[in-house]
Amino acid sequence: MDALQKKISLADVQIPGLPDTTAQIIAALEDDLCSVTKLEEVILRDPALTAEVLKIVNAPYYQSGRSGKPVSSVADTIMFIGMGNLVTLVSIASLTHQCAAGRLDRDIIRHLLAVSSAAALLAEQTKKLRVRREVAVVAGLLHDIGIMVLLDRLPGEYQALRNRVTATGVPLAGAELESLGFTHCSVGAMLAERWHFPPIYRFVLEHHHDEGIPAEIRESEALCLLVRLADKLVLDAGIGSEGAPEVDEAQICTVLGIDGKALEEIKKQVAGMTGIEI
Ligand SMILES: [Fe+2]
Ligand SMILES: [Fe+2]
Repeated sequence: MDALQKKISLADVQIPGLPDTTAQIIAALEDDLCSVTKLEEVILRDPALTAEVLKIVNAPYYQSGRSGKPVSSVADTIMFIGMGNLVTLVSIASLTHQCAAGRLDRDIIRHLLAVSSAAALLAEQTKKLRVRREVAVVAGLLHDIGIMVLLDRLPGEYQALRNRVTATGVPLAGAELESLGFTHCSVGAMLAERWHFPPIYRFVLEHHHDEGIPAEIRESEALCLLVRLADKLVLDAGIGSEGAPEVDEAQICTVLGIDGKALEEIKKQVAGMTGIEI
């Protein structure tokens, strides 16, 4: 039996509590009179978080489809991302902020930003099962949040596992199952539950490494397939610490209605994302 398996079970992974600011945003959003000004006020109370939120929305390659002008205020951020997506953006920003404090590594942030950008590009090309761009952006940004939790909660052990995966180029989820008995997908789903993410994002966190095409495809399944494809393109480009998973690109493109030419174009853009600095 693997040494890790003796020590760790999914129940031992302590999921961080809901950050204060996120809880306050949820409360504000539940108020029918919630306004951009009110939400802005809540975020601005936490300057470090404000800086992180602005850094994320202004990250290079995160701007396709925008005018190219930097987002310079929290109010503009809310307009760009949409009120409904603010909770998830603030959640990722607060985890990223911990990362800045030296507790997590930056590779995963680069990977999340690249997948978010690739997912946005793919969403713009969906002709059959439409995926909304702003939803794709957030789902890409969140999809591997379970890895961030594991790096934070089991720093030594999980980093060692990631190093093994990087050295051998095998897909991460399979290696996690073998060594830990659970994956970052289950951990991400637990976090999504605890932090009250909308169900569509929880679904993506939990299922983005599932294989095959589901029999019934609703909005959450379509989004999940799109994120799975974005993840593969980004890992193929070498942005991430794991081998690319087995994903049938052509099959997913057929289901979502993305044409082959558009996919090739997006691959070129993803190849240019290798220098993302954050
Ligand atoms: Fe993943
Ligand atoms: Fe990923």
